[in-house]
Parts: sequence; C-alpha cells; structure tokens
Amino acid sequence: MKVTVFGIGYVGLVQAAVLAEVGHQVLCVDVNALRVENLKQGIIPIYEPGLTPLVEKHFASGYLNFTTDAAAGVQHGDVQFIAVGTPPDEDGSADLQYVLAVATTIANHMETAKVIIDKSTVPVGTADRVKARIAEVLKARNVVLEFDVVSNPEFLKEGAAVSDCMRPDRIIVGTYDDRPHDLMRELYEPFNRNHDKLIFMDVRSAELTKYAANCMLATKISFMNEMANLAEMLGADIEAVRKGIGSDPRIGYHFIYPGCGYGGSCFPKDVQALIRSSEQLGYTPKILQAVEAVNDKQKYKLPSLVQQHFGNELAGKTIALWGLSFKPNTDDMREASSRVLMETLWQAGAKVQAYDPEAMEETQRIYGVRDDLTLVGTKEAALKGAAALVICTEWQQFRAPDFDLIKAQLQHPVIFDGRNLFEPRRLEARGFTYYAIGRGE
Ligand code: NAD
Ligand code: UGA
Repeated sequence: MKVTVFGIGYVGLVQAAVLAEVGHQVLCVDVNALRVENLKQGIIPIYEPGLTPLVEKHFASGYLNFTTDAAAGVQHGDVQFIAVGTPPDEDGSADLQYVLAVATTIANHMETAKVIIDKSTVPVGTADRVKARIAEVLKARNVVLEFDVVSNPEFLKEGAAVSDCMRPDRIIVGTYDDRPHDLMRELYEPFNRNHDKLIFMDVRSAELTKYAANCMLATKISFMNEMANLAEMLGADIEAVRKGIGSDPRIGYHFIYPGCGYGGSCFPKDVQALIRSSEQLGYTPKILQAVEAVNDKQKYKLPSLVQQHFGNELAGKTIALWGLSFKPNTDDMREASSRVLMETLWQAGAKVQAYDPEAMEETQRIYGVRDDLTLVGTKEAALKGAAALVICTEWQQFRAPDFDLIKAQLQHPVIFDGRNLFEPRRLEARGFTYYAIGRGE
C-alpha cells in the first residue's frame, strides 16, 4: 500500500519505519528541512532502540523516503497519516494548529480519493474539525472528491517504540462509517497475526480512548506516589506494598512504581488537556486535577530532600546527578524530573555534575553552557568531588554500581534515589545515608 506520513517525530518516524518493514511504500513529509536532509544522510533525529537500522535499511531499499514537498506527499499515499505534535496551548489545552495545517495541505493538493488517518493525540471533536476543514478547502477549490477521516491513536512508549509498533497490543480505529474498515484491516494486517487486535469504534470514542489510557496510567503513578508519601510517614515500605498489591491481577504489577514524578511529552500534556476539555464542558475532573497536583509536587521531592539534608550549606556545593532523560532508553528531556531538580539546585546556589547515557546533548541544547552545569562522560566521573549523588532515571547501568567507588569519590556518602534502585538496609550497612521514595521502614 502507498502510505504518506506527515510529521517525522517519535510517532511518525517509528510508524513509517515499521510500515516500510512490512512492505508498505512510505513517504514521510516534514516542514523541518534539516530533519529531512539529515534523515536522507542517515542521521536519525531521536534515540530509539532498533530505529536506526530499520530506517537505514528501508531508505536504501526504497520503501521509505523523506521530503519537504507536501504536494508530492499528498499525491503519493492512498493513506495519509497525520502524526504532528499537539503541544499544550497557553491554557493547557491541545494546540491543534499543526494538525489542522496538515488537513489544509492535504485538501489543497488532493486529486484522488484519500483516507486521512489521525495518529496525533487530539481532543474529542478534532476528527470533525479535520473533516470540516478538508470539505471547506475542497469546496473552495470547486472539486468533488471522496475522503474518509479515521481516528487511529498511537500507544507506543518511548524507549520501546519500535517493538510497541511491531507488536501493538491493540489497534484502535475510529470511523464515521464502515467504508474505511477494509483498507484499515489491510494496512495493519501484518501486525494483526495472533488474535484480532483491531478494535473498531466511532471517532469520538477512539479520540477519548487515547486520553483515557494515558490518564489511567498517570493516575496509577500518582496514586502510588501518594501511597509512598504515606508509607514514609507511617513507617511502612512502599516496595513491599507495591509487590503486595501488584500480585492482585485486578491491580497488576505495571505502572505502580513510585518515583520522582512522571515526565515525558505525553502524560503531563494529556492529563492537562483532558482537564481543560472537561472544564470547557463545565465539568470539574477532580481525579485528574489530583493526579496532576500530586505529580507536580512529587517532582520537588528529591530537591526538597537535598535541601533538607544540606540546609544552609547547599550553596556552593556540587551535586552528582545520574540520569537526565524522563525515563531510560530515550534522550527525551521533555518534562523530565531531572529538570526540576537541576533548576531548584541552581536556584539554591549549588552546582550539578551530571551523566546520562543518551540525553547529554539534549541537556546541552536546552540549558546551553553554564558555570553550574558540568556534563561528564561516565557515571563515575560525575561523582568526583561531589557532595552527594542524586539518581533521577533508572538506566540499567545505574542498578549495580561500585558502592566503594561511590563512597570514595563523594565528599559525603549520601545518595538520593528517585527510582528506588537499592535496598535501604544494604546501603545503610555500607555506611551510606540513603534517601529513597516511600521507604519508611
Ligand atoms: P514530535 O514533536 O516528535 O514530532 C512532530 C513532527 O511534526 C516534527 O518533526 C515537526 O517538524 C512536524 N510537523 C509540524 N508541523 C508539520 C506540518 N504541517 N507538516 C509536516 N510536518 C510537520 O511529536 P511526537 O512525539 O511524534 O508526537 C506526535 C503526536 O503523537 C502528538 O500528538 C503526541 O501526543 C502523540 N503521541 C506521542 C507519543 C510519544 O511517545 N512521543 C506516543 C503516542 C502518541
Ligand atoms: C506513555 C504511555 O505509556 C504510552 O502508552 C503512550 O503512547 C505515550 O505515553 C504517549 O501517549 O505519548 P511514555 O511517555 O513514552 O509513554 O513513557 P512511560 O513509560 O509511560 O513513562 C512515562 C513517565 O511515567 C516516565 O517519567 C516514567 O518514569 C514514569 N513512570 C512510569 C513511573 O513513575 N512509574 C511507573 O510505574 C511507570
């Protein structure tokens, strides 16, 4: 099948690469000319395990190509994916300007029937707006062409995006009628092997399914962070509680890890967008408001612990930091808890000496060169001369460190662990002062 993907970000590029892998002819369109040029040279704009070889292979084989030429893109695909960003507006609602701009572009250039698939995360009612926009432009052009708008939200996780797209656990397809069903089945047939993963529904339900999924996951995390804070005060261990409740299959082990707050480009933005949508309807979404408030506070947990520990002595001290990305296996720093930590420490006059396996270039891009930030090449180098160690991201390589070396390199044997990587008793036996999340026992 001939497929066009508008937007070569996390979602668009990964989706395009896996569609090419199964044999579809994919053309990606982006307004970012540098990104397009880089991709043609084999420079991949994001770090995502397994993505680079897939992109290189299919660019070489001709199944995957990149362009800034929107007209060529519209001409190419029977199917047109919209996979552009939907960042928060000033008031937190989803900014739909990029989605609607692509809808306009498609309508301006289409000469044959098209199926337009919205993969971006968009508020309920957006498919109606896309449909109306395309109809309006076609009318102004004075042409009559058939088109379908489909809502097909994406559920991939960063850091596992390729495998999530190759093996989706469900494929949500929201349509206005049955007309695009066969084409959607054919498009996703290669990913629909063991059991039927396609779930057809109306477009509004498909749009809400995406927000409901992310908000449910964010709710689980904020709930666990609240339990962790209570556990600390009650002298209980949240890690024991986590295992205790996770063993109930109705609760499950996934997404109940307490920590230093959820980040990333999606949970914070999507919880906020659904709050705004609710408010616009005159409805107060109390659970969502609490999920957001608990998370905002949780991000200050590590900086507060550091400030409490060092008190007035913090100014002028250097703090070692392991992990900058919002989660492991990505270089994405959007809404990362490490940013709140660094910014709070800087405000208190402390310096940060940080290491991350993938996100240091991105950190440099965001903060530039500054006296109170040193980025170093290894986790060991981050410790040198630092007053204490803070861990914000649970990269595998941080899980079994050389504790003797940590002790020898740090000025004080103090670890602030935002991801509960270690056993408190073992660290205390080694002479560390160990702060973790919810480990009150
Ligand atoms: P991104 O910011 O990484 O990429 C968006 C791309 O769209 C950019 O390259 C930008 O240049 C391009 N673009 C903007 N306007 C364009 C236009 N008019 N024509 C062509 N290209 C244009 O975004 P992302 O993280 O891939 O997210 C895209 C959407 O998917 C969002 O709605 C997001 O919420 C949703 N989503 C993201 C993830 C994720 O893990 N990142 C997962 C599921 C869903
Ligand atoms: C999330 C969803 O998991 C995807 O299904 C969805 O497609 C995506 O958002 C999206 O809509 O963009 P992602 O943000 O890539 O994916 O990463 P997650 O693995 O969900 O982690 C998000 C944040 O929650 C991270 O900061 C992580 O550290 C935190 N988290 C996760 C916890 O604090 N505890 C947990 O138990 C799980």
